[in-house]
Amino acid sequence: MENNQNPAAGNSRRSFLKTLGAVAATAPTVLTQTQAGAGSPQYLNLVKSHASTSANSKVRLALIGTGGMGIGDTQTALMVDGVEMVAACDLYDGRLRRAKELWGESTATTRDYHEIIDRSDIDVIINATTDHWHEKISSDALRKGKHVYCEKPMVQKVEDGHKLIKVAKETGKVFQVGSQFASSIIVSKAKELLNAGSIGEIVFAEAQYDRHSAMGAWQYSVPPDASLQTVDWDTYLGTAPKRAWDPLRFFRWRNYQDYGTGIAGDLYVHLLTTLHTVTGSKGPNRAYSTGGIRYWNDGRDVPDIQLSIYDYPKTAEHPEFNLTTRANFVDGGGGGYLVRIVGTEGDLSLGWDSLTMRQNKFPKAPGLSIDNFPKDQKELYLAEYNKLYPATSQMEGPKEFKYTVPKDYKGDRYEHFVNFFASVRDNKPNIEDATFGLRACGPTQCGNQSYFQKKVVGWDPVAMKILG
Ligand SMILES: NC(=O)c1ccc[n+]([C@@H]2O[C@H](COP(=O)([O-])OP(=O)(O)OC[C@H]3O[C@@H](n4cnc5c(N)ncnc54)[C@H](O)[C@@H]3O)[C@@H](O)[C@H]2O)c1
Repeated sequence: MENNQNPAAGNSRRSFLKTLGAVAATAPTVLTQTQAGAGSPQYLNLVKSHASTSANSKVRLALIGTGGMGIGDTQTALMVDGVEMVAACDLYDGRLRRAKELWGESTATTRDYHEIIDRSDIDVIINATTDHWHEKISSDALRKGKHVYCEKPMVQKVEDGHKLIKVAKETGKVFQVGSQFASSIIVSKAKELLNAGSIGEIVFAEAQYDRHSAMGAWQYSVPPDASLQTVDWDTYLGTAPKRAWDPLRFFRWRNYQDYGTGIAGDLYVHLLTTLHTVTGSKGPNRAYSTGGIRYWNDGRDVPDIQLSIYDYPKTAEHPEFNLTTRANFVDGGGGGYLVRIVGTEGDLSLGWDSLTMRQNKFPKAPGLSIDNFPKDQKELYLAEYNKLYPATSQMEGPKEFKYTVPKDYKGDRYEHFVNFFASVRDNKPNIEDATFGLRACGPTQCGNQSYFQKKVVGWDPVAMKILG
């Protein structure tokens, strides 16, 4: 799983408040206001939201796709009050046995997802299947009256995204995409700071997902009993090209374009979700990618290193800026994670459980490079300069502030499920609907096309269409 957050990490609540207090002494307006209680700071709302979801109605849940993320999602969903596990579906029998180990013998299990969505005692499904099944299963479930939490990337192909937007609208059911960063307290804080002008105007953003492990490069373990008897291979292939049984294509599906979306769909989609949440952006208008397979020559047909540039045009929401992304699964330096949003007067670095803001305004006086001027020119220039910039104390160095998640914060994924169930139960606004989902994953598909076709690929962020 790519997001190994430790929700327990971070300061105690007391030291968190103390940190805020210390920051307030020299703070940018937004933190001072927060401290003084002017307005309602979003992080407090988020923490409070745990209590506001206390169940007055039960929600009955089923999982389709009982692999790594499906199990993680379900365990998190069950932390929300009033949520009950009813049934699990998967195409590999071992995972159905695992479902009973985790959630009890009474959990209904099946290989066929239609049996799940046909049941009248299920309100909500989590769709944590492989990318190539996201649209079909989600649309079928919505049409059967289920609310759907669908893992990212929302769809494997842009055209499927438009189908899902339509079905979600027609059925009126809640459809939320599972890129949990949309509900992150850190992302929320970054948005608050950007909106308050704390780093000036955005000019650039960069993100890195570097790794140096076999698991990080998607070399997942294959269970010893994997066979055509224990896996429904024909159903798994679905609309993908027909092939003979290949356990690697089933258990390590991310390595193949037929079932996954490569580095861009798997990882960059989180970065675009973060950036779009912080800036309110609808997306870039072109993408360029390069990279290759440098080490993991295991039959995969997607790169193990991918570098991309996404150009964001000027819109009502933000000025023009560029995003660069990098994922290197062969990082001999040991790997690392970074999301940095750079403005004219500072930057925001987003970690798993902390946010660092640096502020660094240009001084009014530009400085001098007049040593190579002749004496008369030097004097003339200095006289004019000193008139324009009378001596003021300009000893302001860069300021740095750190925000760490509160101790009782249970993690972005938990917050994402809190938001999902609030939409299901109380009609609260959907934090990551199908349109948002397509705006985050469509550009990553442009990034992949660019890699394979070796050209810049255009994207219409409003109409959500690949251009040319
Ligand atoms: N939000 C996150 O941070 C995050 C992290 C990891 C994975 N994911 C997403 O979750 C999804 C699952 O990833 P994973 O790592 O759990 O993969 P996985 O291989 O562990 O699990 C996928 C499961 O889906 C099942 N499946 C496939 N087609 C099916 C069908 N038609 N009917 C029923 N079951 C079907 C497979 O049998 C498999 O067990 C992917 O879309 C991935 O991008 C999201």
